[in-house]
Amino acid sequence: MLADKKIVFSGVQPSGNLTIGNYLGAIKNFSRFSEDYKTFYCVVDLHAITVRQVPAELRRRTYETLALYMACGLDEKKNTLFVQSHVPAHAELGWILDCYTMFGELSRMTQFKDKSQKHAENINAGLFTYPALMAADILLYQTDVVPTGVDQKQHLELARDIAERFNQVYGDTFTVPESYIPTDTMKIMSLQEPTAKMSKSDPNDNAVVRILDSKDDIMRKFKKAVTDSEASVRFSEDKPGVSNLMTIYHAFTGKSFEDIEREFDGRGYGDFKMAVGEACADGLAPVREEFARLMADKAHLESVMKNGADEAAYYARKTMSKVRRKIGFVN
Ligand code: TYM
Repeated sequence: MLADKKIVFSGVQPSGNLTIGNYLGAIKNFSRFSEDYKTFYCVVDLHAITVRQVPAELRRRTYETLALYMACGLDEKKNTLFVQSHVPAHAELGWILDCYTMFGELSRMTQFKDKSQKHAENINAGLFTYPALMAADILLYQTDVVPTGVDQKQHLELARDIAERFNQVYGDTFTVPESYIPTDTMKIMSLQEPTAKMSKSDPNDNAVVRILDSKDDIMRKFKKAVTDSEASVRFSEDKPGVSNLMTIYHAFTGKSFEDIEREFDGRGYGDFKMAVGEACADGLAPVREEFARLMADKAHLESVMKNGADEAAYYARKTMSKVRRKIGFVN
């Protein structure tokens, strides 16, 4: 064990304006670990460049993602908040783990298949070995628990396999991490195509509610959300649009699905969509305000990332010296 508490690690890519999927599936849950665990929350810029980025935008979004972590309730004194490229051990362990990750395993990753379809002109080696770098992020800190949305489950399983493989060859080196996936909000769906995940890179802006959208935009997007022709608010697999809206409403209000069904019994979808929009916009308003305040003080954000990187590097060094010794690198 690297610390006297169990360790939590998670990361978010600074590759777009974050969505309520990122918020409800991941970031909102991060703070529940702050008290009882040693927590590392990382802005994973090395992962972001597996897809072509505009440099000035990547830089801006890196600050923004850090500020959003804080605006969503992560206190920098209770959580180690940092930027991945500030701790070079991520890239170093990433390379090492590449050598313990099989071509066949990486070929089976659904995110690789999806992204190589979307970016057919740029199917680079980094996109392919992305899950080994993600394993490095996690294993570097001897992580016990990794909170994410369900789309990262396959990557997490691979990280466990890599850890077990390495441990088998060299003896106990890495903690084998567990995933923490919220059962209710693990996959927030697109508002326009509710059988597909809400994704920050969706070209159809109406499909995606962003954490920093204005209330007007949020209301407009929910008003246009795709539902079905039944006009009954009911949670069911064959009603993906309505079920997704119910999930979002439940996440922002804490109301159960039965209560929501009762609340909108006999009322049309119009009322329901407005209520979901209101709850979402009201729930995000404090995050937006705090975000604006934090972004106005770049020097503070820079000091948070510097302190976070120093702290993370301290823990990373311990794991790396163990890994180097086990592999047979000369000290
Ligand atoms: P990323 O940046 O795509 O997403 C960040 C987090 O948001 C979750 N998420 C969702 N949850 C529910 N519904 C959605 N529609 C939705 N969209 C995104 C993701 O599951 C994720 O938890 N590979 C990771 C970043 C990463 C990482 C790590 C995560 C790099 N290293 C180590 C954990 C541990 C990614 O691309 O997340």
